[in-house]
Amino acid sequence: MINLQNKVVVLTGAGGGIGRAAAEKLAQNGMKIVLFGGNNRENLKATASIVEKYSSCLVLPGDLTDLEFIRKGVEEVIRTFGQIDILINNAGMAANTSFEEVRVEDFDKIMAINVRVPFYLTQQAIPFLKKSGSATIINIASVVAHAGYPLQSAYTASKHALLGLTKSIAREYYQDGIRVHAICPGGVYTDMVKVSRPDLTPEGMIMPEEIADIIWFFLSNRGNAVIDEIIVHRVNKEPFLV
Ligand SMILES: NC(=O)c1ccc[n+]([C@@H]2O[C@H](COP(=O)([O-])OP(=O)(O)OC[C@H]3O[C@@H](n4cnc5c(N)ncnc54)[C@H](OP(=O)(O)O)[C@@H]3O)[C@@H](O)[C@H]2O)c1
Repeated sequence: MINLQNKVVVLTGAGGGIGRAAAEKLAQNGMKIVLFGGNNRENLKATASIVEKYSSCLVLPGDLTDLEFIRKGVEEVIRTFGQIDILINNAGMAANTSFEEVRVEDFDKIMAINVRVPFYLTQQAIPFLKKSGSATIINIASVVAHAGYPLQSAYTASKHALLGLTKSIAREYYQDGIRVHAICPGGVYTDMVKVSRPDLTPEGMIMPEEIADIIWFFLSNRGNAVIDEIIVHRVNKEPFLV
């Protein structure tokens, strides 16, 4: 296990769900957390007060699809903490719409937050990650990065794209010491799943804290074994059905 005390984590989508659970877990382990982006300021404030029980944080509310906000935000992170060690691209959005009814503007919105944002934020963070001895990027994809679900065409396309981006960057930067991973969860009990899978009941769903534990596993186990991605299925009457 490596020592991650005082390492700086840039985490998107930390206003609730997986992001909030990850922020808490990493703060408990002494890491400084940047809560990067989010339109709901109250949610971000609530996460910040959890983080501040254990560690320090920087809160940067705003719309991540605004690339200027990302660029200035990274500058602010460096001014405040002087480094970036970990990037977790977690912010995302889903929809549950028949293919014929997906509006082009909604497709663009989903692709923007789920793919374009991780692409651009990663580009901005890479120069700083190169200087870290523990640089890791974790992209929160989904089981739909592997499977095709009805009523989720735009979301499925975006998560396939995010997984492709992850694989390419992983190969491009491993010699710089940057580890790049994807986590591909099935249904996690968060606000989003209520939109993307209204057919699921909470029973048997993955808890956000379980994804936070996997994030911690990736960060803290930095040996010779490199895991590209972890696919996380929920407990189901038919195991491995995502
Ligand atoms: N829940 C699941 O079943 C599941 C399964 C597989 C993968 N995932 C993935 O896990 C990640 C986290 O989702 P979650 O389930 O934890 O849901 P969530 O609680 O709804 O989190 C999504 C976060 O993304 C942020 N976000 C969305 N658009 C944004 C924008 N334009 N700018 C800044 N922030 C934005 C939201 O912040 P605001 O609301 O404040 O804007 C929110 O905090 C997503 O990438 C999702 O695709 C979820």
